[in-house]
Amino acid sequence: MVVGWTVLCFLSTYWSIATEKEVVLNLARKEALTIFNKDQAFRFWATSHGGVYVPVTELTPPNPNLSHVPDRDIVTPEGKNLTLMNPAYMLRQVINQYGDLYKIKGKVTSLKLLNIINEPDAWERQALQAFDDGVEEVFEVELVEDVPFLRLMRPLYALKGCMKCHESQGYNVGDVRGGVSVSIPMSPYYKMSYRATLKIYFTNTFFWLAGILVVVFIFFRGKSRIIERRTAEAELNESSEKIKLFAYSVSHDLKNPAIALHGITKLLIKNYRDNLDEKGARYCDRILKSSDHIISLVEQINLYMSSKERPIVLARVNAKDIFQAIRQEYSDQLSMRGIKWLELELDIEIRADKLALLRVFRNLIDNSLKYGGDDLSTIEISYNESDEDHIFSVKNDGVGLDPEDCKRIFDPFKRSKTVSEVEGSGLGLAIVKEIADLHHGKVWGESDGGNGVTFYFAIAKNL
Ligand code: HEC
Repeated sequence: MVVGWTVLCFLSTYWSIATEKEVVLNLARKEALTIFNKDQAFRFWATSHGGVYVPVTELTPPNPNLSHVPDRDIVTPEGKNLTLMNPAYMLRQVINQYGDLYKIKGKVTSLKLLNIINEPDAWERQALQAFDDGVEEVFEVELVEDVPFLRLMRPLYALKGCMKCHESQGYNVGDVRGGVSVSIPMSPYYKMSYRATLKIYFTNTFFWLAGILVVVFIFFRGKSRIIERRTAEAELNESSEKIKLFAYSVSHDLKNPAIALHGITKLLIKNYRDNLDEKGARYCDRILKSSDHIISLVEQINLYMSSKERPIVLARVNAKDIFQAIRQEYSDQLSMRGIKWLELELDIEIRADKLALLRVFRNLIDNSLKYGGDDLSTIEISYNESDEDHIFSVKNDGVGLDPEDCKRIFDPFKRSKTVSEVEGSGLGLAIVKEIADLHHGKVWGESDGGNGVTFYFAIAKNL
């Protein structure tokens, strides 16, 4: 952004200054043209009178180049001496004598000279040669003794009135007789453009700086936000790592003693059966059951952790196969409790992690069987789809759930209040949620609090 903005400002400055230079040059040219035309007007005026008679003085001697013109010098009846002034002579005098007033240098010149005083300089010579090729105007800024001048030159054509004095040189009317050059000093214009240029530099620099400040501001704000987010992420990671470590160590430290407890209790029952009375045997049974529970709890915790950790392996999976496998796992329990198993429209292929899906539906069915109660008579599995998701539902007609519970039931260790007396780790549905997340999907439950709960499990189609 900084580079882009700088280039843009640079281009804008360059363009503004180039435009300013052009404007100044055009102004100077306009002035030069005005002078030129004024001189032309005088020249034509003098020509139209065939020259002008003026009194002979020291500064205005008779022009020797007009010696071939009859009546070059005349005397008035009062005896005053008058001499003929040709236009070039006249204008030269005006320009030379009133140069301070004029400030502008003008000159009549030609490649074929009558008077050596009118000799062209190098620049004028080039321009005169260009006029012979048909060019109508030449203008350029040139250094004259290290001072910049705008030089403008236009051709001078031979008119009828010029012939009186110039015919002898072999010109015809319409020929290029020579040229008039005007030079005007550029310094006032440069002063003007200097100020304008300074203004351009100032405004452009100001805008450039303002832009840079905005960019810098955006950059640092973005950066501090990124840093904030990173530290927050790092903190979160760290704390979740800690929790993980804690959970691992707890589950491992817990598992071994639980297994030992289980084993020893078994040995106790086996080897000392005869020494135990009925009450003692019952206590041993309860110890066995409790240690069993601890072991399965620990295993669930490990499963939950690994469901979070294990990357999913996507493959084409047929939904029907999955439910067939699960039905077989539960067939004993289903037939024992007389529960009907329905599968609706499940013959579809999806992309998912097969083992993870098995775990999901196993847990959902587990949940239904565990918390469904004695009234549970049907489990119905069906499929639906939205534009983005495959949606599976597992519906049972057992004990219903409080709608409030439906929201929390997928959080780890959250269990429905109504069924708190049933054994369970409270992690089964949390695992389902983790797996849904890994499949860019979601999971939710619906129940009106009366009979039946429906679990929905959605995963993204574009996996
Ligand atoms: C009254 C006579 C007279 C007339 C009219 C006249 N000129 Fe000249 N012109 C001269 C003389 C003489 C010179 C040379 C001496 C001088 O510079 O004073 C001269 C010089 C020039 C020069 C300068 C180059 C040189 O030869 O020294 C040019 C160009 C020129 N005239 C063009 C014209 C044109 C174009 C007209 C008509 C519009 C014109 N003149 C009308 C007499 C005349």
